[in-house]
Amino acid sequence: MCARARGRLCRSAGVGIAALLAAACGNSPSTLKPRGPGADRIASLWWFMFVVSTVVVLVVGALLLYAVVKRRRRGGPSDEPRWAHGMMFGGGVAFPIVILTVLWVWTLRDMAALSQPAGPAAVTIDVVGHQWWWEVRYQQERIITANDIHIPVGQRVEIRLTTKDVLHSFWVPQLTAKTDMIAGRTNTMTVQADHPGVYRGQCAEFCGLQHAQMIFYVVAQTPADYQSWVARETEPPAASTDQTAVQGRQVFEASPCAACHTVRGTSAQGTLGPDLSDFGARLSIGAGAVPNTRGNLGGWIVDSQSIKPGNLMPPIQLDPDQLQALISYLESLR
Ligand code: CUA
Repeated sequence: MCARARGRLCRSAGVGIAALLAAACGNSPSTLKPRGPGADRIASLWWFMFVVSTVVVLVVGALLLYAVVKRRRRGGPSDEPRWAHGMMFGGGVAFPIVILTVLWVWTLRDMAALSQPAGPAAVTIDVVGHQWWWEVRYQQERIITANDIHIPVGQRVEIRLTTKDVLHSFWVPQLTAKTDMIAGRTNTMTVQADHPGVYRGQCAEFCGLQHAQMIFYVVAQTPADYQSWVARETEPPAASTDQTAVQGRQVFEASPCAACHTVRGTSAQGTLGPDLSDFGARLSIGAGAVPNTRGNLGGWIVDSQSIKPGNLMPPIQLDPDQLQALISYLESLR
């Protein structure tokens, strides 16, 4: 192998290992950074498979090297060492049977544990997939929101999944395995977060142009914080005292926005797009397309197609004062 090719190989191996370490230690939504019992199981299995594979690659590599060197020195294949047959049986038959059986039993045990909750759920949430956003409903608490899913830490949460259109798949790598969302069918999964935090989720089934930007966030809160969130969500959003926001509400109700979006306690009752009753508290705009800031919101209202091409929202024509008022109103909703 020429020096340049060897250098390239070493560099790419180095980059691969660095990426693996970054995923395990950094701030990425990685399965190697589990934050709940479901993801813990998956990570343990992954590390076991990684260690076994690494050992196999190293041993096979060392044997290959040994074979090449020895063959050159002795000059012929007839000079076979006495342990060669034992090695072939042990390494080629016995070892794979033992390891694959362990992996098979371990995987079956984890699949059974992940599909059967260990007890009753404290909270039940319905999540409906849409191209390309997530409708989130807490039936018992009568809460409807979108793209951010609040859960209490340390408690089992049952999530019932379905879709309004094509196949999607619900995946929060740091909490548990992915589950498909299938039209006309409800799949149930259980998640639990053991640490407060915001965990990024992602649609994991190709569902069209904006599949990659079908993102959501699981906000895991202490039970007390979760309860105050529930209490706030069950009330209509508090009327803002800011005059611009008050004017913005009139703009909202008179504009095409109200035909597709709902805000509790107003005449806007559209159901084609996400419910915006707590929009100001949301982490992102367009299901993770951009962070929720005034500037991004203005850009989204005027021309969301430039941010997330193919989404259902048409451009909204407003004069600058109306636009600023509308932004103030939407950001005041929480
Ligand atoms: Cu929804 Cu991919």
